[in-house]
Amino acid sequence: MAYRLFEGKGHASIYQKYRFTPPTELKNIIIEYLDKKKGQPHVLAVDLGCGTGQNTRLLAPCFQKVVGIDISDCQLEEARAVPGYPNITYSKGPAEELPFPDGSVDLLTAASAAHWFDREKFFVEANRVLKPRGCIALLGFSDPNTKLKYKDCGDKLDHIYQGVKRVLAPYTSNPAIEAEGKLEGVFSAIPFPDKERIESFRVKNLISVRHLLGFIETWSMFQGYKKKDPKSAEDLLVNTQKRFLDEMGVTSLDTEIEQHFEYFCLLASK
Ligand SMILES: C[S@@+](CC[C@H](N)C(=O)[O-])C[C@H]1O[C@@H](n2cnc3c(N)ncnc32)[C@H](O)[C@@H]1O
Repeated sequence: MAYRLFEGKGHASIYQKYRFTPPTELKNIIIEYLDKKKGQPHVLAVDLGCGTGQNTRLLAPCFQKVVGIDISDCQLEEARAVPGYPNITYSKGPAEELPFPDGSVDLLTAASAAHWFDREKFFVEANRVLKPRGCIALLGFSDPNTKLKYKDCGDKLDHIYQGVKRVLAPYTSNPAIEAEGKLEGVFSAIPFPDKERIESFRVKNLISVRHLLGFIETWSMFQGYKKKDPKSAEDLLVNTQKRFLDEMGVTSLDTEIEQHFEYFCLLASK
């Protein structure tokens, strides 16, 4: 059964606005891995669960052709609306049934998406479409170690942030728990013996209060809460925004906070 949590137009448009592009340095590590295992040429990369295309666009300069795949029409509509990437195409469909011939793909990626896939079916399909020594890179960010910093009130901002996560905890699905655990179970299930993981790739973002609230709004657990109780979900955002601004002693939503968090990446070669 596919999880259909990212379908709405509203959700897709906040995705385009507030989701982060993975760090370029992490993308470089993935490309170096591909070079080491399979080598040149870099013909075709496929970004699965591409959403609004942040990771897909990051890959574009490194391949002759990049295809973004997602099950959500609304997410794809947002992705297609971004101009300037002539070698990217987007296609609707599940990661478990890919529209590519056997042995035709150099790199398969999934950014913050692999936890939603049917593992067994996905790995059978990955094995089918990858070229010999072709690679998989499943990346994401893991939030439990996120730290916020603004002048001397970082601890208080962390406390507010963790409070939001506690309210949303009952709406956290099993796949989202797997993502928080850096895809431990997915890693064990990768059928290729040649696999490794980057446990922690720390990044620092400067993020406005507005963007941080928008990012929270993109979470599947927030969307679950909003579906069940739209008024309380809206109140949670409004109150959190107020608490952040009060602690920081500012009024502008454009005030920037340092956000320290970590990415992880599972790498494997066929
Ligand atoms: C959390 S979003 C991540 C989007 C994007 N990769 C990013 O980094 O922001 C997960 C995406 O995976 C898609 N998705 C979920 N299950 C899928 C499946 N079985 N096959 C393809 N896409 C799927 C959803 O529609 C959604 O756009």
